[in-house]
Formats: sequence, structure tokens, C-alpha cells
Amino acid sequence: MRVDVRTGSSTSAIRIGDGVVDRLSSLLDEHSIGSRRFVVSNPAIWRLHGPQIQRALGGGEPILIPDGERYKNLQSVSRIYDPLIQANADRGSAVIAVGGGVVGDTAGFAAATYLRGITLVHVPTTLLAQVDSSIGGKVGVNHTLGKNLIGAFHQPALVAIDPLLLGTLPRREFRSGLYEVVKYGMIANRDLFDRIAKDTKAIFARDPDVLVPAIVESCRIKADVVSKDEREGGLRRILNFGHTAGHALEAVTKYRRFRHGEAIAYGMLAAADLAVARGALADRERQALAALIAKLGPLPPVADLSIAEIMDAIRRDKKVVHGKLHFVIAIEIGATMTVDDVTEDELRSVLQRLGLKG
Ligand SMILES: NC(=O)c1ccc[n+]([C@@H]2O[C@H](COP(=O)([O-])OP(=O)(O)OC[C@H]3O[C@@H](n4cnc5c(N)ncnc54)[C@H](O)[C@@H]3O)[C@@H](O)[C@H]2O)c1
Ligand SMILES: [Zn+2]
Repeated sequence: MRVDVRTGSSTSAIRIGDGVVDRLSSLLDEHSIGSRRFVVSNPAIWRLHGPQIQRALGGGEPILIPDGERYKNLQSVSRIYDPLIQANADRGSAVIAVGGGVVGDTAGFAAATYLRGITLVHVPTTLLAQVDSSIGGKVGVNHTLGKNLIGAFHQPALVAIDPLLLGTLPRREFRSGLYEVVKYGMIANRDLFDRIAKDTKAIFARDPDVLVPAIVESCRIKADVVSKDEREGGLRRILNFGHTAGHALEAVTKYRRFRHGEAIAYGMLAAADLAVARGALADRERQALAALIAKLGPLPPVADLSIAEIMDAIRRDKKVVHGKLHFVIAIEIGATMTVDDVTEDELRSVLQRLGLKG
């Protein structure tokens, strides 16, 4: 399967299918991607999938950065620059990021900035990276004072998505990505939403007949949105459905309690609830979302988190523009709208109903 992301400045090709990784070398040739290829990964992923990648690329030692969100920083970017400089990597060289969102964002930022930008290829290995972070060209790292504060837009020349790589992904990581798939269903495709609800078991069994189409559809939705609005002028904001409260939950728990998708699951519930309270969404639609989220598995608790703290975190978030809170709400499963007049009282009641402490 092939999906393209066309933006003003470039075209990214997304290739999706079981076994795509084994054809990596010919895919790179097909897209005239530099003969000097620098693979970036982390030790855990490399242990599991390195041999296969090496076979596909005909050898070569990877640049490994430490595993974990706390290493998504400028120091890891430096650890990527060093060998590039030592090897005299030039404008014709390519960085191939093999990993989840952390490796992709970090290696992507190195590729965006080394020599003011060299070719980037993503080989995403988590479900979250396959449906979300590898697509759209946002790359960057965290600062000690905040997440994703340092970054750039740098579209990958190629994204090679092989769902077979997900076979080794722990269930919790898999679920984290699945909530983003639910998000795509909520914002753009009711059928995708219904299929996850109906075929939940097969999805968790990573049955390719169900999983591959769900990944393809998710990529299509993200690619479509990004093609129309690369720099988040407006439309791209719909991808933030569930992310207002979600990001706040992650921030107040210092990124330790929730996997990203888990926080987004709560955020989607909040956004749906807000929509119901405004009369924009039918309550049965909210219930369908709540039922699906419950079916996918337990979420970390929120009852001990204070509403005031979450409100502070939302105010600090980048989504507050000129003091107004932009909020993406669902109007039905498969369609959203953006509102910019959400009041603090409204938000407080939603968080209360979500079970946070007042
Ligand atoms: N650039 C974007 O547009 C964008 C979008 C969404 C999220 N993100 C970023 O993505 C990051 C989260 O990404 P993530 O959820 O992929 O987390 P991650 O990259 O930390 O990966 C999760 C864990 O799974 C392991 N892993 C990866 N692939 C595996 C495999 N196939 N088998 C077994 N283990 C494997 C990793 O080593 C890691 O321990 C965050 O930093 C977030 O900010 C970026
Ligand atoms: Zn997200």
C-alpha cells in the first residue's frame, strides 16, 4: 500500500505492508535515497530487529541512542551528529530512524539540522509511530523545562511501515498506539471506529487482515490532513482531538504515569463529554466512545489528580492562542469541530465528571 504526503515543499512516500522492511534497500533505491545511509535506533529495538534491518540493508553499524523519553534530548542529538561528522556525512547522506516516536523525533531532528537538513527515512516500530509520529514531518526533542520545545518541520522522504515489526511490541505500548487509531476514527472515519470495536480481539492478536487496513486508514487520514495543512494553520488541529486534557494529564504526572495514548484516551472522553454538555454531540455517541475505550483495557487512575493543577497545565499548553482555549470537540463519531470559546467553568465540570479531585 502506498500513501503520499504532498506539502508545498516536498513529497513523502509512505509504504505500508507486511515485509516492507525486507525490501528496504530497493525502496531506498526507488526513491533515489542517498547511498550513504546512517541507521539510528536504540539498543532494545536493535536487539530485536537489528539483524533483519542489517540483512535488508546489506550490513552497517547503527548509531544507538539510549531508550526512553528522558533521552529525547539535545544530548542524544549530539550522539547522532558525532558519527555523522566523523564519517564526513554530506548532503547526499540519509538518516534512517528505526524505532518508536522517541527515536524518530530525535533522529529526525538531527537529520533536519545537520548541514541544514539531510534526507530522513522513518522505519517506525511502534504502533504509535506507524500511525502518527512518523508521518507529518514534526521532529524535535524535549528541554528540561518542557516537552517538544525544540523542533523543526522536516518531511521524511520515505516512511517504511512494516506491521510485522509490531509482533514484539509489549501490549501496553500497542494499546497506546491503538488509542490514536480510535482518535482517527473519531475525527474522520466512523467505519474505522466500528471495526476496532468489532474486531478488538483480532487487532490485539495483530491479525494482519484487521491490523494492516487499520494502519493504512490511519496513515491516510493523517497524510490527508498534513497535506492540506503542514504547519498547523487550522485543519491540522483536528489531530489534537483529545490532546488538550491529554497533554495536561501527562504533564502533571511528569510523563511517568501514562503512556501517551492512555492520556489521550482520557482526553477524548473529556472532549466528548464537553461536546455533549454543549449539545453538540449525542450522548449515545459519547457512550460508544467510552465503551470502546473501556474495552481496550484499563487506564491508569486519575482520581488523585487535582483539577486546579490540570487547569494550570492546560493554560500553559501551546494550544492556548491569544489567551483563548482552542478545543477540538466531536460532533459525531467521524466528525469534529474546533471551538475557541471554552470557559474554565465548562472545563472544570468536565474534569470533575472524569473523576478528578476538585
Ligand atoms: N512527531 C510527531 O508528530 C509525534 C506524534 C506523536 C508522538 N510523538 C512522540 O513520540 C514519542 C512516543 O513514541 P512511542 O509511543 O513510539 O514511544 P517510544 O519511542 O518510547 O517506544 C516505546 C517503547 O517501545 C520500545 N519498542 C519500540 N519498538 C518496539 C518493538 N517493535 N518491539 C518491542 N519494543 C519496541 C521502545 O524501545 C520503547 O521502550 C513521544 O516522545 C511523543 O512526543 C511525536
Ligand atoms: Zn497523540
